[in-house]
Amino acid sequence: MKIIKAKNYNDMSRKAANIISAQVILYPYSVLGLATGSSPVGTYEQLVEWYAKGDIDFSNTTTVNLDEYVGLDASSKQSYRYFMNEHLFTKVNIDMSKTFVPNGKAEDLYAECRRYDDLITSLGGIDLQLLGIGHNGHIGFNEPSEAFEKTTHCIDLKPSTIEANKVFFYSADEVPRQALTMGIKSIMQAKKVLLIVNTEEKKEILEQALFGSVTPEVPASILQLHPDLTVVTCFE
Ligand code: GLP
Repeated sequence: MKIIKAKNYNDMSRKAANIISAQVILYPYSVLGLATGSSPVGTYEQLVEWYAKGDIDFSNTTTVNLDEYVGLDASSKQSYRYFMNEHLFTKVNIDMSKTFVPNGKAEDLYAECRRYDDLITSLGGIDLQLLGIGHNGHIGFNEPSEAFEKTTHCIDLKPSTIEANKVFFYSADEVPRQALTMGIKSIMQAKKVLLIVNTEEKKEILEQALFGSVTPEVPASILQLHPDLTVVTCFE
């Protein structure tokens, strides 16, 4: 595991964007696993800036996102598809048909989960997975539980996650109660994992995740077992 301490949020974003752009420049046909939330906003901004300068070409890149709220689609500003379109996809030359986000409006959510896993398999897995971490140690929307869920699944969000994510909604009542999330297996099978941690509030959970026991009660703790994990934090 490599831990990189950035000076501040901008520095963290630049360092993370450097790792992603190196991947795309060296391997233009990469499959990038992407994340949403406040942590990666600056990373995407930096990638967009370098794209605008002509330094990165996303035309051959494929992306698969970690998760999506159940009941929201691309037209909803709070959906993760909308977030990705806004922050990255419409601002670079990526082929939209090669950007994938679970469909939170699917009629059959179980079938959608199976479709998403098959999709990731058909792409040959993920080359570089970008992750943030939730206050309770979740990755994607893999919430603390009694067992690691291997495959894409529908999850009931924990009250603490609803509380943390309400900032993106008008009120906590509007936060969907369920989400679809990639499972631990797809994340762990990514060739490289890049975890970015943006606020000191997450220091304790990060320490538990990286140096505590590997337990599904702290889903991010599984990352200790990943052979190529880079963590970029904003704090000492
Ligand atoms: C959200 C997302 C995660 C994200 C995490 C942290 O619920 N599902 O993928 O990493 O919570 O979000 P933030 O970066 O806003 O703190």
